[in-house]
Amino acid sequence: MDQNIKFWDRIAKRYSMRPVADEDAYQKKLQTSQQYFQPEMEVLEFGCGTGTTAIIHSSFVKHIQAIDISSKMLEIAQSKVDAANIKNITLQQSSIDDFKVANETYDVVLGLSILHLLADKEQVLAKVHKMLKPGGVFVTNTVCIGDKLKFFKYIAPIGKFLGLLPLVSIFTTEELKDSLTGAGFEIDYQWRKGKDISVFIVAKKNE
Ligand SMILES: C[S@@+](CC[C@H](N)C(=O)[O-])C[C@H]1O[C@@H](n2cnc3c(N)ncnc32)[C@H](O)[C@@H]1O
Repeated sequence: MDQNIKFWDRIAKRYSMRPVADEDAYQKKLQTSQQYFQPEMEVLEFGCGTGTTAIIHSSFVKHIQAIDISSKMLEIAQSKVDAANIKNITLQQSSIDDFKVANETYDVVLGLSILHLLADKEQVLAKVHKMLKPGGVFVTNTVCIGDKLKFFKYIAPIGKFLGLLPLVSIFTTEELKDSLTGAGFEIDYQWRKGKDISVFIVAKKNE
């Protein structure tokens, strides 16, 4: 995990300056997420990075708990939250694996561009399912490298060894959906733009 933290700390500043890759697709994902929000809702975002998405969503819900392993990402997020004078986002340095919370705490959990970065996504999905209230939703945008770049499985360990890449897991969209349903979710919404490598999914916990 430490090597991962170092990787994300190192690229935090560059990451914060990177423009959104596809503004139209990003807006569609934001708006779709917001259709699930209500003003009294408690939200968790894990792997929040520099806080951009949490800040955009903050006026639609009661509170967003935003966590990330990288203190450098969180420093940037905190300065943006402070500059915008937002009071309902709490930032905390934690991995999703170590994050402690009572069952059925959240109405919505956001995991955006993060599931492919986890050592054990099945364990995390089971945890997310537990922390959601009945009827709650998990919103995820996930890079499914297995759909396209099958050879990447040979590159990823070398890139990680050299410190050029973080931990990266390789799976297809179908495998991701199996993992979500295996954790007890129903797929409520699924979208991807054209042949994009990322899929946007809203997965629901039964009432
Ligand atoms: C690709 S960035 C995505 C950031 C943001 N969600 C976005 O969509 O722009 C991945 C983020 O997840 C964080 N991260 C990686 N592994 C994590 C873990 N196990 N628990 C929490 N955060 C993690 C990294 O520090 C980084 O900020």
